[in-house]
This record gives sequence, C-alpha cells and structure tokens, in this order.
Amino acid sequence: MSQHVGILGGGQLAMFLCSAADSLGIETTVLAHSADSPAATTAGSVLSGDLDDLNLVKELISRADVITFDLEAIPSSTITLLDEAVARGDVAVHPDSNVMRTLQDKLVQKQWMVDNALPTARFIGVEGDDAMHQAARGFGVPLVQKARVGGYDGRGVQILRDEASLRQLWPIPSLVEDFVADARELAVVAARGRSGEIVAFEPVEIFFHPEHNVLETVEAPASLPAALRDQAIEIAEATLTALGGTGLFALELFLANGELLINEISPRVHNAGHHTIESAATSQFEQHLRAVCGLPLGPPAQARPAVMRNLLWQHDSRRLEGNELESIAACRDASLHWYGKRDARPWRKMGHITALGDSTASALQTVDQTEQLVERAFAP
Ligand SMILES: Nc1ncnc2c1ncn2[C@@H]1O[C@H](COP(=O)(O)OP(=O)(O)OP(=O)(O)O)[C@@H](O)[C@H]1O
Ligand SMILES: [Mg+2]
Repeated sequence: MSQHVGILGGGQLAMFLCSAADSLGIETTVLAHSADSPAATTAGSVLSGDLDDLNLVKELISRADVITFDLEAIPSSTITLLDEAVARGDVAVHPDSNVMRTLQDKLVQKQWMVDNALPTARFIGVEGDDAMHQAARGFGVPLVQKARVGGYDGRGVQILRDEASLRQLWPIPSLVEDFVADARELAVVAARGRSGEIVAFEPVEIFFHPEHNVLETVEAPASLPAALRDQAIEIAEATLTALGGTGLFALELFLANGELLINEISPRVHNAGHHTIESAATSQFEQHLRAVCGLPLGPPAQARPAVMRNLLWQHDSRRLEGNELESIAACRDASLHWYGKRDARPWRKMGHITALGDSTASALQTVDQTEQLVERAFAP
C-alpha cells in the first residue's frame, strides 16, 4: 500500500522531497505559506497557510501516514498538536518532537552537544541588555552572537571582533560563542532509519559568501586525510545515535588546527547534500523518505566528484521576468535546478547548479562556466 507523506514547509527542500517521493510511489501533501511556494510544483497536493494554522495541520494529519519537515522553525503549538496525534496513533512524525525541540533552539542544541560529550565551540547563553553586555565582556572577543531561534542563511548570526563592537550586540535571546579562526567548514549528511541503522554520505567542504555568510559552493567529497574523514563520519554517527531520531540530519563542522567542532545540526535535508541528486546512488531526499517511511536505507556511494553552486540573486529586488528557459538551455555540462521563486530578494537562493567531473577541480571549472552563462541570461 502506498504511503502518504505530509511535509511542513514548502521551500526547495520540500520541492525535492516531493520529486523523490514521486519516484518511490509515495504520495505527498505540503503545508506551505502560499500556493506558489517552490514545493507546489512537485507536491501531490498543497495546503496553503501558516505553519501554526492548527486547522490546516489537522487536515495534514488526516491525509498523511507520516509527517516530516523542510525546516526546523516549527511553531511550538504545531509540535504539541503533532505530539497528541502521535499519542493517539493517528500519524507518525519524524524526526520526533524531542529531536525537533532540542535542535530548533541554538542554545538548547549547544547545551545538548555538551551534555552528550560532542565537540563544539565554547559558548554561553545571553539575554537582556546590560546583563548581556557584561556577560559578553566576561566571555571575551572575538565572539559570534547567534539568535536562539529564527536565523537562517547567516541571518541571525554576527561576528563581533573587539570590545568596542560589543555595543552592537542584538538585545535578543541568543548565545555567544568563540569565533573559530582560520576554519575550513565541512558538512556530513547522514540518515538514521527507524531501526537505528545509520548511513552517512561522504563529508563535503562548504564555502560561504565572505560578506553575506550564505552558503555558495559545496565540494563533494571534501579533500581530507583519511583519518579526519573517518572522524567526521564518527562524529555524525555519534550525534545521530545520541539524538535517537529518525530521518536525515546534517552536521555543519569547523576544521581548525586539525580539530573538528560541530557548528550546528539540522533535523532535515540540507543544502550541503543537494549534489547527491546527481552524484550518489541514493539522493539525500530519497534517503530521508526511506528513513521516515521505515524503508531500508539506500547506498550512499558517490561515483564521481561533484561541485554544487547556489544561484544567489545578486540584482536589485524585483520580480523575475521568466527568462529561466534561456538559462536552462545554457546548461549543457551541468544540471540546473530552478526553484521557481516568484520573489527575487538580494542573496536569496533562487536555484542551484551541480556538475560532476573527474576531480572536484574539473567539476568546479564547469560550475563556474555554467554560472556565468546563467548569470548572463538574467543580467538586466
Ligand atoms: N563560531 C564561529 N566561528 C567562526 N565562524 C562562524 C562561527 N559561527 C558561525 N560562523 C560563520 O557563520 C556561518 C553561519 O552560522 P550558522 O551556521 O550558525 O548560522 P545559520 O544562519 O544557521 O546558517 P545556515 O542557514 O547558512 O546554515 C557559518 O557557516 C560560519 O561561516
Ligand atoms: Mg549553518
């Protein structure tokens, strides 16, 4: 019998989950902010409204066998409603509410890492105004301030380099942590099935826009000594085992002075795993569906090196005028994925390109060339 997966959130992650579900014969409904959200193009059906509209969440529960997420910022009232439905046996929810509540608040998440002996940068929680400045001074600079909730793509994160800049601390519930200098950034995407088996993709290196802190490029696999590659996977396995949840998770890691530290853990498919659509035996999207639906996990093997580049909107904010076809035609050597977002805000992720190559260097060259062709098609 076919399963029906309900997805909270309708962005590009849900869009790709729905495409993968289609190939597996799994039905989908997404609850998305609007009927023209990216996932609306691939979902079996769409409920359009806010994620805390409990009537819509009830409707999603009534349609679905399994509910999952395309983002971690799920309103508390919705998580409670889902919990009640799980207790009644109406639906399964993966990852479960414990995992979601642990990971959706950055301070709770960091404390959980410490409690579970997982490596992460030193931090403290801060709140209020005067007390916050005093605590931050005591903590020491340079530091990174992070909003406990609601941040994404570098929004909600600021680096304060000296005592004087502590005046710019945001007066919001947040944490401050050590600035990790000269770090390379890595990610490990791994899934945990319902019976506890864990399957990890190869660690990747992630590169951010230097000013805007948005993920730009992913090189897969990361170029690492075997011992560090193994250690990154071991940290991911230890994390997923300690969490005990079902589904696919992504760890963002810093590599500094030969040491690996966890930056953050996401309870969902992740931008660092997009390359698996073309490069791996099982895509991260299929793997997540396999995990949450109780199917055996697929092989993660990556046949060829891959590079993924996000297409970040670099022009003024304006509505797109539909020259997507021209840019798709320009992509002969790489795969273009266009998210169909109607609103093009600066630095918004509008799509991505993945190229395979004999090496990550050759894949990177193809991605650079393709990005230029796409850029040309969109130039005003
Ligand atoms: N402690 C740190 N030391 C050095 N750089 C940091 C630190 N924390 C964050 N950064 C930089 O800021 C980026 C964004 O931080 P973080 O991943 O916590 O926020 P985010 O908004 O959840 O990001 P995203 O949605 O892109 O994953 C990191 O990828 C890294 O480049
Ligand atoms: Mg991050």
